[in-house]
Amino acid sequence: MTAETASIDAPGPKPFLAALGGAAQRTPPIWLMRQAGRYLPEYRAIRAEAPSFLDFCYNPALATEATLQPIRRFGFDAAILFSDILVIPDALGQSVAFESGEGPRLSPIENAADFAALREAPDWARLAPVFETVERVKADLPKDVALIGFCGAPWTVASYMIAGRGTPDQAPARLFAYREPDLFAALIDRLADASAEYLARQIRAGAEAVQIFDSWSGVLPPAEFERWCVRPIARILGKLDAAGLRAPIIAFPRGAATQLGKFADLAGLAAIGLDTAVEPAAAAAALPARLALQGNLDPLALLAGGRALDEGVERVLQGFAGRAHIFNLGHGILPQTPIAHVERLVARVRGG
Ligand code: CP3
Repeated sequence: MTAETASIDAPGPKPFLAALGGAAQRTPPIWLMRQAGRYLPEYRAIRAEAPSFLDFCYNPALATEATLQPIRRFGFDAAILFSDILVIPDALGQSVAFESGEGPRLSPIENAADFAALREAPDWARLAPVFETVERVKADLPKDVALIGFCGAPWTVASYMIAGRGTPDQAPARLFAYREPDLFAALIDRLADASAEYLARQIRAGAEAVQIFDSWSGVLPPAEFERWCVRPIARILGKLDAAGLRAPIIAFPRGAATQLGKFADLAGLAAIGLDTAVEPAAAAAALPARLALQGNLDPLALLAGGRALDEGVERVLQGFAGRAHIFNLGHGILPQTPIAHVERLVARVRGG
Protein backbone atom coordinates (compact mmCIF):
# COMPACT_ATOMS: atom_id res chain seq x y z
CA MET A 1 0.00 0.00 0.00
CA THR A 2 1.40 3.40 -0.94
CA ALA A 3 1.57 6.22 1.55
CA GLU A 4 -1.06 7.99 -0.49
CA THR A 5 -3.67 5.26 -0.21
CA ALA A 6 -2.84 4.83 3.47
CA SER A 7 -3.74 8.44 4.08
CA ILE A 8 -7.00 8.00 2.19
CA ASP A 9 -7.85 4.89 4.20
CA ALA A 10 -6.93 6.51 7.51
CA PRO A 11 -7.63 10.23 7.28
CA GLY A 12 -6.04 12.32 10.01
CA PRO A 13 -8.18 14.05 12.57
CA LYS A 14 -9.84 17.31 11.65
CA PRO A 15 -7.19 20.05 12.12
CA PHE A 16 -9.27 21.87 14.75
CA LEU A 17 -9.61 18.67 16.82
CA ALA A 18 -5.93 17.83 16.35
CA ALA A 19 -4.99 21.23 17.80
CA LEU A 20 -7.42 20.71 20.69
CA GLY A 21 -5.61 17.43 21.32
CA GLY A 22 -2.50 19.49 22.07
CA ALA A 23 -0.66 19.05 18.75
CA ALA A 24 0.76 22.20 17.15
CA GLN A 25 -0.39 22.43 13.51
CA ARG A 26 1.80 23.85 10.75
CA THR A 27 -1.14 26.10 9.80
CA PRO A 28 -3.29 26.88 12.83
CA PRO A 29 -6.95 26.00 12.36
CA ILE A 30 -9.20 29.06 12.32
CA TRP A 31 -12.76 29.95 13.30
CA LEU A 32 -14.16 33.23 14.66
CA MET A 33 -16.35 33.82 17.67
CA ARG A 34 -19.78 34.99 16.49
CA GLN A 35 -18.82 34.00 12.93
CA ALA A 36 -22.51 33.67 12.06
CA GLY A 37 -24.45 36.89 12.29
CA ARG A 38 -25.20 40.37 11.16
CA TYR A 39 -22.00 41.16 9.22
CA LEU A 40 -23.21 38.56 6.67
CA PRO A 41 -25.88 39.71 4.19
CA GLU A 42 -27.10 36.11 3.84
CA TYR A 43 -27.67 36.03 7.64
CA ARG A 44 -29.61 39.30 7.59
CA ALA A 45 -31.77 37.88 4.79
CA ILE A 46 -32.82 34.75 6.70
CA ARG A 47 -32.99 36.51 10.08
CA ALA A 48 -36.00 38.42 8.71
CA GLU A 49 -37.86 35.10 8.33
CA ALA A 50 -38.38 34.62 12.08
CA PRO A 51 -40.55 36.90 14.24
CA SER A 52 -38.00 37.10 17.06
CA PHE A 53 -34.37 36.19 17.67
CA LEU A 54 -35.33 33.34 20.03
CA ASP A 55 -37.78 31.98 17.45
CA PHE A 56 -34.88 32.03 15.03
CA CYS A 57 -32.65 30.12 17.47
CA TYR A 58 -35.39 27.51 18.05
CA ASN A 59 -36.00 26.94 14.31
CA PRO A 60 -33.72 24.05 13.24
CA ALA A 61 -33.90 24.88 9.52
CA LEU A 62 -32.94 28.54 10.04
CA ALA A 63 -30.37 27.85 12.76
CA THR A 64 -28.73 25.14 10.64
CA GLU A 65 -28.52 27.50 7.69
CA ALA A 66 -27.03 30.29 9.85
CA THR A 67 -24.43 27.85 11.25
CA LEU A 68 -23.36 26.75 7.77
CA GLN A 69 -23.28 30.19 6.08
CA PRO A 70 -19.81 31.23 7.33
CA ILE A 71 -18.41 27.76 6.53
CA ARG A 72 -19.57 28.01 2.92
CA ARG A 73 -18.28 31.55 2.51
CA PHE A 74 -14.91 31.34 4.28
CA GLY A 75 -14.10 27.63 4.74
CA PHE A 76 -13.39 27.91 8.46
CA ASP A 77 -12.04 24.82 10.25
CA ALA A 78 -14.93 24.75 12.72
CA ALA A 79 -18.62 25.62 12.71
CA ILE A 80 -20.25 26.84 15.92
CA LEU A 81 -23.85 25.94 16.61
CA PHE A 82 -26.10 28.94 16.00
CA SER A 83 -27.95 29.69 19.22
CA ASP A 84 -27.45 31.99 22.20
CA ILE A 85 -26.24 31.64 25.78
CA LEU A 86 -29.58 33.02 27.06
CA VAL A 87 -31.63 30.01 25.93
CA ILE A 88 -30.78 28.49 29.34
CA PRO A 89 -32.58 31.19 31.40
CA ASP A 90 -35.40 30.96 28.86
CA ALA A 91 -35.65 27.18 29.38
CA LEU A 92 -35.52 27.72 33.17
CA GLY A 93 -38.70 29.78 32.83
CA GLN A 94 -37.34 33.32 33.04
CA SER A 95 -38.78 35.68 30.45
CA VAL A 96 -36.10 36.47 27.82
CA ALA A 97 -36.49 38.73 24.80
CA PHE A 98 -34.12 40.45 22.40
CA GLU A 99 -35.03 44.00 21.48
CA SER A 100 -33.61 44.81 18.05
CA GLY A 101 -30.61 47.08 18.41
CA GLU A 102 -30.86 47.09 22.20
CA GLY A 103 -29.74 43.63 23.26
CA PRO A 104 -31.33 41.17 25.68
CA ARG A 105 -34.13 41.98 28.14
CA LEU A 106 -34.96 39.56 30.96
CA SER A 107 -37.29 39.81 33.96
CA PRO A 108 -34.58 40.44 36.57
CA ILE A 109 -34.00 38.03 39.46
CA GLU A 110 -34.06 40.36 42.48
CA ASN A 111 -34.89 38.14 45.47
CA ALA A 112 -35.54 34.65 46.79
CA ALA A 113 -39.08 34.63 45.39
CA ASP A 114 -37.81 35.36 41.86
CA PHE A 115 -35.28 32.53 42.22
CA ALA A 116 -37.94 30.17 43.57
CA ALA A 117 -40.06 30.85 40.48
CA LEU A 118 -37.39 29.32 38.23
CA ARG A 119 -37.65 25.69 37.18
CA GLU A 120 -35.31 23.21 38.92
CA ALA A 121 -34.08 22.02 35.54
CA PRO A 122 -34.48 23.39 32.01
CA ASP A 123 -37.55 22.53 29.98
CA TRP A 124 -35.75 20.10 27.64
CA ALA A 125 -38.68 20.04 25.24
CA ARG A 126 -38.15 23.76 24.64
CA LEU A 127 -34.46 23.13 23.85
CA ALA A 128 -35.15 20.13 21.59
CA PRO A 129 -34.80 22.27 18.41
CA VAL A 130 -31.23 23.13 19.48
CA PHE A 131 -30.24 19.44 19.55
CA GLU A 132 -32.02 18.89 16.25
CA THR A 133 -29.95 21.76 14.81
CA VAL A 134 -26.75 20.05 16.02
CA GLU A 135 -27.81 16.83 14.26
CA ARG A 136 -28.68 18.61 11.02
CA VAL A 137 -25.46 20.64 10.92
CA LYS A 138 -23.39 17.57 11.65
CA ALA A 139 -24.95 15.74 8.72
CA ASP A 140 -24.23 18.62 6.32
CA LEU A 141 -20.73 19.63 7.40
CA PRO A 142 -17.69 19.17 5.10
CA LYS A 143 -15.58 16.27 6.39
CA ASP A 144 -12.62 18.37 7.61
CA VAL A 145 -14.79 20.86 9.52
CA ALA A 146 -15.56 20.25 13.20
CA LEU A 147 -18.77 21.21 15.01
CA ILE A 148 -18.54 23.22 18.24
CA GLY A 149 -21.37 23.33 20.75
CA PHE A 150 -21.46 25.96 23.49
CA CYS A 151 -23.05 27.42 26.56
CA GLY A 152 -22.56 30.52 28.65
CA ALA A 153 -20.59 30.08 31.87
CA PRO A 154 -22.72 30.25 35.03
CA TRP A 155 -21.29 33.63 36.10
CA THR A 156 -21.92 35.32 32.74
CA VAL A 157 -25.44 33.89 32.39
CA ALA A 158 -26.28 34.78 36.01
CA SER A 159 -25.08 38.34 35.42
CA TYR A 160 -27.72 38.80 32.69
CA MET A 161 -30.38 37.02 34.77
CA ILE A 162 -29.85 39.42 37.67
CA ALA A 163 -29.44 42.70 35.79
CA GLY A 164 -32.12 41.77 33.27
CA ARG A 165 -30.01 43.34 30.52
CA GLY A 166 -26.46 44.03 29.45
CA THR A 167 -24.50 46.42 31.70
CA PRO A 168 -20.97 47.88 31.37
CA ASP A 169 -19.58 46.08 34.45
CA GLN A 170 -22.21 43.63 35.73
CA ALA A 171 -22.47 45.64 38.96
CA PRO A 172 -25.99 44.33 39.76
CA ALA A 173 -24.83 40.68 39.86
CA ARG A 174 -21.64 41.53 41.76
CA LEU A 175 -23.64 43.43 44.37
CA PHE A 176 -26.21 40.62 44.61
CA ALA A 177 -23.41 38.06 45.14
CA TYR A 178 -21.99 40.13 48.06
CA ARG A 179 -25.39 40.75 49.67
CA GLU A 180 -26.97 37.33 49.10
CA PRO A 181 -24.10 34.87 48.75
CA ASP A 182 -26.16 31.76 49.55
CA LEU A 183 -28.91 32.65 47.12
CA PHE A 184 -26.38 33.57 44.47
CA ALA A 185 -24.51 30.28 45.03
CA ALA A 186 -27.79 28.41 44.56
CA LEU A 187 -28.34 30.22 41.25
CA ILE A 188 -24.79 29.44 40.09
CA ASP A 189 -25.19 25.76 41.01
CA ARG A 190 -28.53 25.61 39.19
CA LEU A 191 -26.86 27.07 36.09
CA ALA A 192 -23.80 24.81 36.30
CA ASP A 193 -25.96 21.68 36.48
CA ALA A 194 -28.27 22.87 33.69
CA SER A 195 -25.28 23.83 31.52
CA ALA A 196 -23.49 20.52 32.04
CA GLU A 197 -26.58 18.60 30.98
CA TYR A 198 -27.14 21.03 28.08
CA LEU A 199 -23.59 20.45 26.81
CA ALA A 200 -23.93 16.70 27.34
CA ARG A 201 -27.01 16.68 25.12
CA GLN A 202 -25.21 18.74 22.45
CA ILE A 203 -22.28 16.29 22.50
CA ARG A 204 -24.62 13.30 22.24
CA ALA A 205 -26.34 15.01 19.28
CA GLY A 206 -23.01 15.40 17.46
CA ALA A 207 -21.01 18.35 18.82
CA GLU A 208 -17.32 17.39 18.65
CA ALA A 209 -16.05 20.06 21.04
CA VAL A 210 -17.73 22.63 23.29
CA GLN A 211 -16.88 26.15 24.38
CA ILE A 212 -17.94 27.74 27.66
CA PHE A 213 -18.24 31.52 27.20
CA ASP A 214 -17.39 33.46 30.36
CA SER A 215 -17.55 36.85 28.68
CA TRP A 216 -17.79 38.72 31.99
CA SER A 217 -15.24 36.94 34.17
CA GLY A 218 -12.91 39.94 33.93
CA VAL A 219 -14.97 42.12 36.27
CA LEU A 220 -14.44 39.79 39.26
CA PRO A 221 -11.81 40.34 42.00
CA PRO A 222 -9.57 37.30 42.73
CA ALA A 223 -11.61 35.54 45.42
CA GLU A 224 -14.87 36.02 43.48
CA PHE A 225 -13.14 34.94 40.25
CA GLU A 226 -12.19 31.69 41.92
CA ARG A 227 -15.63 31.17 43.42
CA TRP A 228 -17.97 32.26 40.61
CA CYS A 229 -15.88 31.64 37.49
CA VAL A 230 -13.30 28.85 38.03
CA ARG A 231 -15.23 26.56 40.40
CA PRO A 232 -18.52 26.50 38.45
CA ILE A 233 -16.59 25.73 35.24
CA ALA A 234 -14.75 22.95 37.10
CA ARG A 235 -18.15 21.62 38.22
CA ILE A 236 -19.34 21.47 34.60
CA LEU A 237 -16.13 19.68 33.56
CA GLY A 238 -16.54 17.17 36.39
CA LYS A 239 -20.13 16.40 35.42
CA LEU A 240 -19.27 15.84 31.76
CA ASP A 241 -16.42 13.58 32.78
CA ALA A 242 -18.67 11.63 35.15
CA ALA A 243 -21.14 11.19 32.27
CA GLY A 244 -18.34 9.65 30.20
CA LEU A 245 -18.38 12.49 27.66
CA ARG A 246 -14.82 13.25 26.61
CA ALA A 247 -15.34 15.87 23.88
CA PRO A 248 -12.65 18.56 24.21
CA ILE A 249 -13.73 21.61 26.18
CA ILE A 250 -12.60 25.21 25.61
CA ALA A 251 -13.06 27.81 28.36
CA PHE A 252 -13.15 31.48 27.33
CA PRO A 253 -12.64 33.55 30.49
CA ARG A 254 -12.65 37.00 28.92
CA GLY A 255 -10.64 39.52 30.91
CA ALA A 256 -9.04 36.89 33.16
CA ALA A 257 -5.65 38.63 32.68
CA THR A 258 -3.23 37.64 35.47
CA GLN A 259 -5.76 35.08 36.75
CA LEU A 260 -5.43 32.83 33.66
CA GLY A 261 -3.15 30.48 35.60
CA LYS A 262 -6.15 29.46 37.73
CA PHE A 263 -7.23 27.31 34.75
CA ALA A 264 -3.86 25.53 34.48
CA ASP A 265 -4.85 22.48 36.49
CA LEU A 266 -8.53 22.04 35.63
CA ALA A 267 -9.00 18.37 34.82
CA GLY A 268 -10.75 17.83 31.51
CA LEU A 269 -10.00 21.21 29.98
CA ALA A 270 -8.49 21.08 26.45
CA ALA A 271 -8.02 24.76 25.61
CA ILE A 272 -8.29 28.33 26.83
CA GLY A 273 -9.72 31.12 24.70
CA LEU A 274 -7.69 34.29 25.13
CA ASP A 275 -9.05 37.79 24.84
CA THR A 276 -7.38 40.63 22.95
CA ALA A 277 -5.40 41.97 25.90
CA VAL A 278 -3.47 38.76 26.61
CA GLU A 279 0.21 38.67 25.67
CA PRO A 280 0.82 35.30 23.92
CA ALA A 281 4.06 34.74 25.86
CA ALA A 282 2.28 35.38 29.18
CA ALA A 283 -0.44 32.86 28.31
CA ALA A 284 2.16 30.30 27.23
CA ALA A 285 3.98 30.77 30.53
CA ALA A 286 0.84 30.60 32.69
CA LEU A 287 -0.69 27.54 31.02
CA PRO A 288 0.81 24.06 30.51
CA ALA A 289 1.69 22.90 26.99
CA ARG A 290 -1.06 20.27 27.04
CA LEU A 291 -3.61 23.11 26.87
CA ALA A 292 -4.23 24.51 23.40
CA LEU A 293 -4.44 28.30 23.18
CA GLN A 294 -7.15 30.00 21.14
CA GLY A 295 -7.18 33.61 20.03
CA ASN A 296 -6.68 36.49 20.01
CA LEU A 297 -6.74 39.06 17.19
CA ASP A 298 -8.45 42.33 18.10
CA PRO A 299 -11.90 42.39 16.40
CA LEU A 300 -11.26 46.10 15.73
CA ALA A 301 -8.08 45.27 13.77
CA LEU A 302 -10.20 42.98 11.61
CA LEU A 303 -12.79 45.72 11.17
CA ALA A 304 -10.07 48.27 10.29
CA GLY A 305 -8.30 46.01 7.78
CA GLY A 306 -5.14 47.12 5.93
CA ARG A 307 -1.92 47.33 7.90
CA ALA A 308 -3.62 46.98 11.28
CA LEU A 309 -5.05 43.63 10.15
CA ASP A 310 -1.87 42.35 8.49
CA GLU A 311 0.36 43.28 11.41
CA GLY A 312 -2.13 41.96 13.95
CA VAL A 313 -2.37 38.59 12.18
CA GLU A 314 1.42 38.34 12.00
CA ARG A 315 1.84 39.11 15.69
CA VAL A 316 -0.74 36.50 16.67
CA LEU A 317 0.82 33.84 14.41
CA GLN A 318 4.32 34.54 15.68
CA GLY A 319 3.21 34.88 19.29
CA PHE A 320 1.75 31.36 19.38
CA ALA A 321 4.20 29.65 17.02
CA GLY A 322 5.26 26.24 18.33
CA ARG A 323 2.17 25.87 20.57
CA ALA A 324 -1.05 24.08 19.80
CA HIS A 325 -2.88 27.19 18.60
CA ILE A 326 -6.34 27.83 17.20
CA PHE A 327 -6.58 31.17 15.43
CA ASN A 328 -9.54 33.26 16.54
CA LEU A 329 -10.46 36.78 17.55
CA GLY A 330 -10.12 37.99 21.15
CA HIS A 331 -13.92 38.51 21.24
CA GLY A 332 -16.82 38.27 18.79
CA ILE A 333 -16.67 39.66 15.26
CA LEU A 334 -18.32 43.08 15.02
CA PRO A 335 -21.41 43.56 12.81
CA GLN A 336 -19.71 46.36 10.79
CA THR A 337 -16.82 44.09 9.73
CA PRO A 338 -16.29 44.06 5.93
CA ILE A 339 -16.45 40.59 4.39
CA ALA A 340 -13.30 41.29 2.33
CA HIS A 341 -11.35 41.69 5.59
CA VAL A 342 -12.45 38.25 6.78
CA GLU A 343 -11.38 36.77 3.44
CA ARG A 344 -8.00 38.45 3.77
CA LEU A 345 -7.61 37.20 7.34
CA VAL A 346 -8.25 33.58 6.35
CA ALA A 347 -5.88 33.83 3.37
CA ARG A 348 -3.08 35.29 5.48
CA VAL A 349 -3.45 32.74 8.27
CA ARG A 350 -3.24 30.00 5.64
CA GLY A 351 -0.16 31.57 4.11
CA GLY A 352 -1.80 33.34 1.15
O1 CP3 B 1 -20.74 32.45 17.39
C1 CP3 B 1 -21.71 32.20 16.64
O2 CP3 B 1 -21.74 32.54 15.45
C2 CP3 B 1 -22.86 31.41 17.22
C3 CP3 B 1 -23.93 32.14 17.77
C4 CP3 B 1 -23.82 32.97 19.06
C5 CP3 B 1 -24.67 34.07 19.30
N1 CP3 B 1 -24.46 34.51 20.57
C6 CP3 B 1 -25.64 34.62 18.33
C7 CP3 B 1 -26.23 35.96 18.53
C8 CP3 B 1 -23.03 32.79 20.20
C9 CP3 B 1 -21.91 31.79 20.47
C10 CP3 B 1 -23.46 33.78 21.16
C11 CP3 B 1 -22.87 33.89 22.51
C12 CP3 B 1 -23.31 35.00 23.39
N2 CP3 B 1 -24.54 35.56 23.49
C13 CP3 B 1 -22.46 35.59 24.36
C14 CP3 B 1 -21.04 35.19 24.68
C15 CP3 B 1 -20.07 35.71 23.67
C16 CP3 B 1 -19.85 37.19 23.70
O3 CP3 B 1 -20.08 37.80 22.65
O4 CP3 B 1 -19.47 37.73 24.75
C17 CP3 B 1 -23.23 36.59 25.02
C18 CP3 B 1 -22.74 37.48 26.14
C19 CP3 B 1 -24.54 36.55 24.47
C20 CP3 B 1 -25.73 37.35 24.88
C21 CP3 B 1 -26.23 38.18 23.77
N3 CP3 B 1 -26.87 37.70 22.64
C22 CP3 B 1 -26.17 39.60 23.67
C23 CP3 B 1 -25.55 40.52 24.70
C24 CP3 B 1 -26.78 39.94 22.46
C25 CP3 B 1 -27.05 41.33 21.95
C26 CP3 B 1 -25.83 41.97 21.43
C27 CP3 B 1 -25.66 41.56 20.02
O5 CP3 B 1 -24.53 41.14 19.66
O6 CP3 B 1 -26.61 41.70 19.27
C28 CP3 B 1 -27.17 38.75 21.81
C29 CP3 B 1 -27.86 38.61 20.50
C30 CP3 B 1 -27.24 37.72 19.48
N4 CP3 B 1 -26.68 36.50 19.71
C31 CP3 B 1 -27.16 38.00 18.08
C32 CP3 B 1 -26.53 36.89 17.49
C33 CP3 B 1 -26.25 36.68 16.03
C34 CP3 B 1 -27.70 39.24 17.39
C35 CP3 B 1 -29.20 39.21 17.35
C36 CP3 B 1 -29.80 39.33 15.96
O7 CP3 B 1 -29.24 38.80 14.98
O8 CP3 B 1 -30.87 39.92 15.86
